[in-house]
Amino acid sequence: MKKNIVYVTGCLGFIGSYVTRECLKRGWFVRGIDKCTYASNKKLLDELNQYENFIFEKKDINDIEFLYECDYVINVAAETHVGNSIVRSDDFVHSNINGVHHILELIRKYRAEGKDVPTMLHFSTDEVYGDIHEGAHTETDILKPSNPYSATKAAADMLILAWERTYKIPYVIVRPTNNYGAGQYVEKLIPKACKYLRVGRKIPLHNNGTPVRNWLHAQDTANAVMTIIESGITNEIYNICGGFEQDNLTTVRKIVKLYHGDDEYEKYLDLSISRPGQDMRYALDDTKLQSLGWKAKAVFDIELEGIVEYYRKNFIW
Ligand SMILES: NC(=O)c1ccc[n+]([C@@H]2O[C@H](COP(=O)([O-])OP(=O)(O)OC[C@H]3O[C@@H](n4cnc5c(N)ncnc54)[C@H](O)[C@@H]3O)[C@@H](O)[C@H]2O)c1
Repeated sequence: MKKNIVYVTGCLGFIGSYVTRECLKRGWFVRGIDKCTYASNKKLLDELNQYENFIFEKKDINDIEFLYECDYVINVAAETHVGNSIVRSDDFVHSNINGVHHILELIRKYRAEGKDVPTMLHFSTDEVYGDIHEGAHTETDILKPSNPYSATKAAADMLILAWERTYKIPYVIVRPTNNYGAGQYVEKLIPKACKYLRVGRKIPLHNNGTPVRNWLHAQDTANAVMTIIESGITNEIYNICGGFEQDNLTTVRKIVKLYHGDDEYEKYLDLSISRPGQDMRYALDDTKLQSLGWKAKAVFDIELEGIVEYYRKNFIW
């Protein structure tokens, strides 16, 4: 049976590590690329290097000079923290827009030599649609990003659509909702809450914890990517959601309860801050992806217990 040869950029990031493991488990050949920013986990290399079908290159995606033979470039690399993008957006433009443009050009040059591979499989986000107070966004909705991070992600989606139309570069764009799971960098809500509980500081919670998020396990996200690749479908956009939503206050209450066994959560929270451009609710319709046979399997309340334990034992600065 023919095995895929894939690039996974951002392989040392949170979602990138789940995607890389799934590819490796299938026996696919993976060339992992990562710039090793502060958000990456270099210790993952101890695990990934045990696979004979894995090669790693420490590189900025903007500095890749040419592509080796491959079937897919799975682009998971990005600057991802909204708060950072509000303070300084240069790195976001560099990695999330210029980096995608660079990969598209590499693919264009590769295919210009008469080859019918690779396909660009790109990680976008639910944030490109902006927030929605009722119902759920479908893949054809207009993009209305609210912050610098989501604006760079929406710009990348536009580049990919244009490169398909102009140069016939095949693509798949996936737009997942908020991912959770072990191994996420500590700037994101769940690990951040665990870190603050561990060091005895109050958990900063934007906008009184009212924003609502859809939670999707990173393993379900990786499974969705495998389903799409194995279907062979190209030139489509897929929302990945899973359908479990709750406000951030409820998420943090559950973490406090698991961490301290305490129902009196207020004393652990700092509710004094608001984020400019805050999106109040994200929700996606992923009927299109489900029609390929994918379904989210992880159950948030069950998974959360193990994740809180993971961060209790693995302190990340
Ligand atoms: N985490 C989520 O909840 C979520 C939700 C929806 C979409 N996404 C998207 O999924 C992707 C992965 O998100 P994540 O949370 O795993 O990110 P992450 O911040 O955990 O990891 C990103 C990885 O990319 C690497 N990287 C950054 N810039 C690079 C560059 N120029 N060249 C090479 N490597 C670079 C970093 O070193 C890091 O290892 C991103 O595209 C993000 O927009 C994430």
